[in-house]
Amino acid sequence: MRNTLDVIKERRSIRKFKPEQIKEEELQAIVESGLYAPSAINKQSWNFTVIQNQEILAELNEATKNVARNLDNEALKRIGENEKYNCFYYAPTVILVSGKDEERSKVMDCSAATQNMLIAAESLNIGSCWVELVSLAFMGPQAKELRAKLNLPEGYTPLHCVLLGYKDMEGKTAPRKENAVQYIR
Ligand SMILES: Cc1cc2nc3c(=O)[nH]c(=O)nc-3n(C[C@H](O)[C@H](O)[C@H](O)COP(=O)(O)O)c2cc1C
Repeated sequence: MRNTLDVIKERRSIRKFKPEQIKEEELQAIVESGLYAPSAINKQSWNFTVIQNQEILAELNEATKNVARNLDNEALKRIGENEKYNCFYYAPTVILVSGKDEERSKVMDCSAATQNMLIAAESLNIGSCWVELVSLAFMGPQAKELRAKLNLPEGYTPLHCVLLGYKDMEGKTAPRKENAVQYIR
């Protein structure tokens, strides 16, 4: 069993996955770790949609890129126009994380849950990546249709997703920025 501090330092975003699906007990452990995250006033203002259907993921990817290519942002435009780009990197499992619209703390609550899931995945040696880009799909013309397909609960909006799968690449650690911490003692 790896120690938590090592797992935190060794986690890296994985963008190449083996096609094999992760085990159900691994998925359940990761989802549960998200549900056990802290949340402001214990509101637990998150909702998770576990997607393991590649057809739906392909549709979501296209909807995301359709919005991206029409934005006034060169980097996103390039992503949207890149036929080869898949915002899920063909991960076999994607957990869409939606926040409860009326809760002020939704982004923080969902982010805490997301980080828990990334760390839990790494502790099981499962590759993961936090992907915000997918939120674009729910701002575009296909939003209503996608919401219905995914059975998203009323009053929740997707903020980002977590990709999961067995790693087919080594993660690389970027150097940490200096001067990011001040100690007042
Ligand atoms: C809020 C947030 C949004 C992100 N969105 C994306 C994304 O849309 N696509 C992607 O490939 N990576 C995304 N990432 C992953 C970052 O690119 C990655 O965490 C960063 O480059 C540091 O690398 P590391 O995770 O390996 O430490 C996101 C990360 C965070 C925290």
